[in-house]
Parts: sequence; structure tokens; C-alpha cells
Amino acid sequence: MPKAPPVDRTDPPMSAPRKHSCLPFLIVIVLSAAVTALVFMLMGNIAQHKREAEQVVFKIADVDETTTDPEEWGKNFPRQYDGYKRTVDTERTRWGGSEAFQRVDEDTDWQTLFAGYAFSFDYREDRGHAYMLQDQRETERVHKVKQPGACLHCHASDIPAYRKAGIENGAPGALTDPFNSPDARAQLQKGFEVVCAISYEEATKLVEHPVSCVDCHDPETMHLRVTRPGFINGIRALAESDDPVPHLQSIERWRKGDRIEPYEPNTMATRQEMRSFACGQCHVEYYFKGKGKLLTYPWHNGLKMEQAEKYYDDEGFKDWTHKTAGSPMLKAQHPEFELWSQGIHARAGVSCADCHMPYKREGAIKVSDHHIRSPLLNTARACQVCHNVTEDEILARAETIQDRTRALMVRGQTATLELIDMIVMAKGAGATDDQIAPLQSDHRKAEWRLDYIAAENSMGFHADQEAARILGEAIDYARQGQIKAVKLIAELGSPTPASAGGG
Ligand code: HEC
Ligand code: HEC
Ligand code: HEC
Ligand code: HEC
Ligand code: HEC
Repeated sequence: MPKAPPVDRTDPPMSAPRKHSCLPFLIVIVLSAAVTALVFMLMGNIAQHKREAEQVVFKIADVDETTTDPEEWGKNFPRQYDGYKRTVDTERTRWGGSEAFQRVDEDTDWQTLFAGYAFSFDYREDRGHAYMLQDQRETERVHKVKQPGACLHCHASDIPAYRKAGIENGAPGALTDPFNSPDARAQLQKGFEVVCAISYEEATKLVEHPVSCVDCHDPETMHLRVTRPGFINGIRALAESDDPVPHLQSIERWRKGDRIEPYEPNTMATRQEMRSFACGQCHVEYYFKGKGKLLTYPWHNGLKMEQAEKYYDDEGFKDWTHKTAGSPMLKAQHPEFELWSQGIHARAGVSCADCHMPYKREGAIKVSDHHIRSPLLNTARACQVCHNVTEDEILARAETIQDRTRALMVRGQTATLELIDMIVMAKGAGATDDQIAPLQSDHRKAEWRLDYIAAENSMGFHADQEAARILGEAIDYARQGQIKAVKLIAELGSPTPASAGGG
């Protein structure tokens, strides 16, 4: 592209004014030089755009199901690869962004709320995809605690590793079988089960790269796809439930059919649904089921917070026992897909990619921005394509939602901390396990709700009313538990005939 010719800046210094200025002539010369340069640049640009528009794909490297290295794919799709690489950037927003600060130091309430659990000593703000494998390998949560291979599922480009483990453990076929073939699926499921059960140290040796092109794209057609076995199993369980999912029409359609074949996102979902499913592969609540530590998404009753809770209650599951209160606790993990599902944007058909991977123009081509990050760093492309208001206004609308959510969350934290104190006091006053159990049950309910919104990474934005509803319930359960505790302590303090009779 021709460059503008260097401009001779002969403006007189301010301190030395001249009587007969030649300034007007100079301005004319400079301007005409600039205009000429611009015309050249424009012509060059148009020619280049035409060439680019003709050749969107330069197929240089052969990629297949086993190509986990994004650099190889980048040879064919340099624009998307450039964006992908930029996920190393770090920039903070008011309530999010990509600086991996220590959440439990920033807000020390959480050290008490998570007492007795690994999250109490290392729990950071999330950052870009480029770091996912490194951050998992480095967290104290894998060093101070023994973790299963199941952790690997959402932190690496691991599909070939699963399939290889599947073949080694008796699954049919070869690694080159197309992903949607029955043999490949049998390999995937078998290998997934095997790798979930081994130790994290062993599992992480099987992979080299964080999430990569092959995890979301078919190497033959580049069509969007989902590959994560945890998601494929989870979305099937959801389809088989009767929870209405008005934002996922392909599931509603499948439910009305003969149901002979299980729901299969890769062949049944619409393109717009796939633009959220690709992210729902990992940005979801999960737990490790049973001895085999099988990664499971708790969607069997539906996608809502209390439906997941009911699933855990029915399974008799707890993540840990609270150190001081002794309550059987649940830890919520990044339920972005679930919360988004309850919001106005999902209802209006707006996908994760619409906000987190908006189109950008490069030359004459529109590409999806693979620099996945906070949309608040990019409101012009992420929001203003739909919202015809200024950047300041759209940012203010989002931050108003977030500030309100945060204010309720702080009240929830205070209420839950006070309940923990009261449980400890009731124990100190000599309450029996049976007497304490209803208080601990309130503690479990309150903190699950509080954490559900705290662990969700949009500070309420993905579904503002739902977030407020859940936090309202958190505060209510915490205060209900406290009222029970006050009554119990009063009873224990002034012996009633029944307790006096006991001894
Ligand atoms: C209507 C736009 C919109 C949609 C749709 C949307 N998000 Fe978001 N998302 C946001 C905004 C706004 C934030 C808040 C960012 C911040 O606070 O900096 C956010 C935050 C996040 C974060 C945390 C980002 C950070 O900076 O830490 C993640 C992760 C995320 N979203 C994932 C998803 C997933 C997965 C989906 C789909 C299931 C989704 N989002 C759908 C707008 C959207
Ligand atoms: C279902 C998918 C999934 C599984 C399984 C999973 N993670 Fe993550 N992990 C994520 C997502 C999504 C994020 C980013 C959102 C966030 O940080 O809340 C994340 C963030 C992290 C982070 C960075 C932020 C932090 O929490 O400090 C670490 C470290 C981490 N995970 C470790 C683990 C470990 C250890 C395991 C196994 C116990 C695990 N992950 C299992 C999806 C998963
Ligand atoms: C294979 C699992 C996986 C998939 C698929 C995935 N993510 Fe993530 N995502 C993660 C993990 C893990 C992190 C946290 C990495 C860390 O903190 O080291 C993360 C971080 C993020 C962040 C925080 C980035 C920042 O700058 O703070 C956003 C936003 C995000 N993901 C959105 C998405 C969207 C949108 C999609 C779908 C297009 C998606 N993710 C698909 C696992 C995944
Ligand atoms: C977390 C999932 C995810 C990963 C990882 C991912 N992509 Fe994409 N990619 C998408 C989504 C979503 C779209 C939009 C597709 C659509 O709307 O049909 C897309 C679109 C594309 C397209 C179509 C043109 C465009 O820009 O819309 C190309 C080419 C592409 N990606 C290449 C890549 C390459 C190369 C990599 C690896 C460096 C990669 N993608 C990694 C989710 C992903
Ligand atoms: C693809 C289009 C689209 C994109 C992109 C989009 N929105 Fe929206 N947004 C909508 C629609 C549609 C509604 C619902 C309007 C209605 O039906 O009343 C909505 C509603 C909202 C609301 C009102 C929410 C409520 O609970 O009442 C806010 C605030 C908002 N959007 C902010 C944002 C921000 C911030 C971004 C960028 C991060 C964004 N939107 C991106 C289409 C979009």
C-alpha cells in the first residue's frame, strides 16, 4: 500500500511570529499532498479488498480431527487465528475483564464462606482462553488437593486424547473416523470415562493446547460443532426433561417427535443455537459423579438454579462440609449458559457469539472476532449493532444492572456470614446434630444461591431479574436460618421442661 509522502512541517514556532506569513500557501500544499496520498491509498485499498473478497480461504495446511495446534489452522484462517491469539490480552472492567486477580483476597468474606474448601485459598478472576491450560496446571487447587482427570474436559483441546484412550480401552474404529460417526462417538465416550477417573497429573500430560479450532469447528467443512462429551450428555438429559426451553427451539421440536434417536446438537440444532452451544460446552455448572468422577452437567430436571439443586439433593451430593458450620455445601461453577438461558437476550434469540464474538470488518470481509473477551471492552461492535444508543449509554445500562446485582450480593454475603456465626453459637450452646440440621440446610440453600450468582461471571447481566430473584432467595434462606437459630439458642439457654427432663 503506498504511503503518504513525508510532510515538511515548516509552521513557524509560536514564539517567533512573522509579519508576512506564507502559511496559507503551505496549508494548500500540505492539503493537496495529503489528498493525493489519500486517493492513492483508497485505490490501493479497493484493489486489495477485491482480491481479499475473492479468496476468503487460502488452503495451505491440511488439518484433520487430530490437529489440536491452532497455529496449523491459522495458516488457513489467519484472521480468526490472530483474534484467537489476542486472548492473551489483560484488561479489567468494573466487574469483570481478564486480569487474574485473587477473588478471595479482594473480598475476604469468601474465605469464610468457603471455609474447609480449596476455593478458600485460590480462586481467581477468569482470563482469556489462551491461559486456560496454564492456569489450571498452576492453581493451588490442583497442588494442595488431589484432583481427577475430569478437570481436563474444559481446559484443553482434548478430543483426540479422549478418542485415543477410548480405542486403547476397547472402543471400535480409528482416530481418523469422522467425529459424528458411531465409532468415533463410542471412542469419545469410552475415553472420556477413562480420563475422568485418572489423576489430574496423569491426564494433563495427554494434552498440549488450550481450547482450539478443532473443538468448535469441523476440519472438513469448518461448520460449527460441539465436541465436549459432558455437554453432549448434558443437553440430551435436558432434552429428555420437560422443562420448557423456549430459547432452544430444536429441543422443543425434538420433544414433539418420536424420540427414537437421542437429541443430537450437531445435526439438529439451528446455527444460531450452535453459536451458544459452542460456549455452553464449558461455561456451565458441573459436578463429578460417583467413584469414576464422571463429569456431569446437572440438567436432568431443567436449566434453572433450583432444578440443578433438586438434582443434587436427589443424588445426596455435597461438594464439601463447611469447616465451622458443618453444613453439607454445594459449590456453584460458572453457570453462564444456564443464567443466559433465563434472560431477555436468550429469549430474543441473541447468542453468546453475538456479544462475545461480534463480526468485525477486515478488508472486504466480515469475520467473527475470535478475541473472546468482555463485551464491555467492545460495546461498539458487541452492543450497538442492536442498540441504537451511545456507547456511554449502553455501558451505563449494563453497569446499572451489575451495580444493583452486586449490592444485593453483598447483602447476601452478610446474611450468610451471620447465619454461619449463629450455627456456631448454637453448637456452642449444646445443640444436637438433629437440632442443627435444619439450620445447616438453610445454610446450604442460601450459599448455593449466593454463589450461583457470584460464580456466574456477568455480575447479573446475562439475566438481571433472575439474578435478583436468586439473590433475594439467598438472603431469605439465610435470615430464616438465623431466626431458627435464635429460637434454638433461646430454648437451649433457658431449659424447657423437655430438655431439663433429659438431664
Ligand atoms: C447480550 C450480550 C451477551 C450475551 C448474549 C452473552 N453475554 Fe456474556 N457477558 C456480557 C456482558 C455485558 C458481560 C459482563 C462483562 C464485564 O463485566 O466486563 C458478560 C460476561 C461474561 C463472562 C465473563 C467475562 C469477564 O470479563 O470475566 C463470560 C465468561 C461470559 N459472559 C460468557 C457468556 C456465555 C457462555 C454466553 C452464552 C451462553 C454469554 N456470555 C452470552 C454480554 C453477553
Ligand atoms: C465444565 C467445564 C469445566 C470443568 C470440568 C473445570 N473447569 Fe475450570 N473453568 C471452566 C470455566 C468456564 C472457567 C472460566 C470461568 C470462571 O473462572 O469462573 C474456569 C476457570 C478455571 C480457573 C481459573 C479461575 C479460577 O477459578 O481460579 C482455574 C484455576 C480452573 N478453572 C481450574 C479447574 C480445576 C482444578 C478443575 C477440576 C476440579 C476444573 N477447573 C474443571 C470450566 C471448567
Ligand atoms: C473448552 C472449554 C471452553 C469453551 C468451549 C469456551 N470457553 Fe470460555 N473459558 C474457558 C475457560 C477454562 C476460561 C478461563 C481461562 C482462565 O482463566 O485461565 C474461559 C474464559 C472465558 C472468558 C473470559 C475472558 C476474559 O478476557 O476474561 C470469556 C468471556 C469466555 N470464556 C467466553 C466464551 C465464549 C463466548 C465461548 C463460546 C464462543 C467460550 N468461552 C467457549 C473454557 C471454555
Ligand atoms: C469456542 C469455539 C470456537 C473456537 C475455539 C474457534 N472458533 Fe471459529 N468460530 C466460532 C463461532 C461461534 C463462529 C461463528 C460461526 C457462525 O456463525 O456460523 C466461528 C467462525 C469461524 C469461521 C467462519 C468465518 C467467520 O469468521 O465467521 C472461521 C474460518 C473460523 N471460525 C476459524 C477458526 C480458527 C482458525 C480457530 C482456531 C484458531 C477457531 N475458529 C476457533 C467459534 C470458535
Ligand atoms: C443481536 C442483538 C443484540 C445484541 C448484540 C445486544 N442486545 Fe441487548 N437486547 C436485545 C434485545 C432484542 C433486547 C430485548 C428488547 C425487548 O424485546 O424489549 C435487549 C435488551 C437489552 C437490555 C434490557 C434488559 C432488560 O432486562 O430489560 C439491556 C440493558 C441490553 N439489552 C444491553 C445490551 C448490551 C450491554 C449489549 C452488549 C454487551 C447488548 N445488549 C447486545 C438485542 C441485542
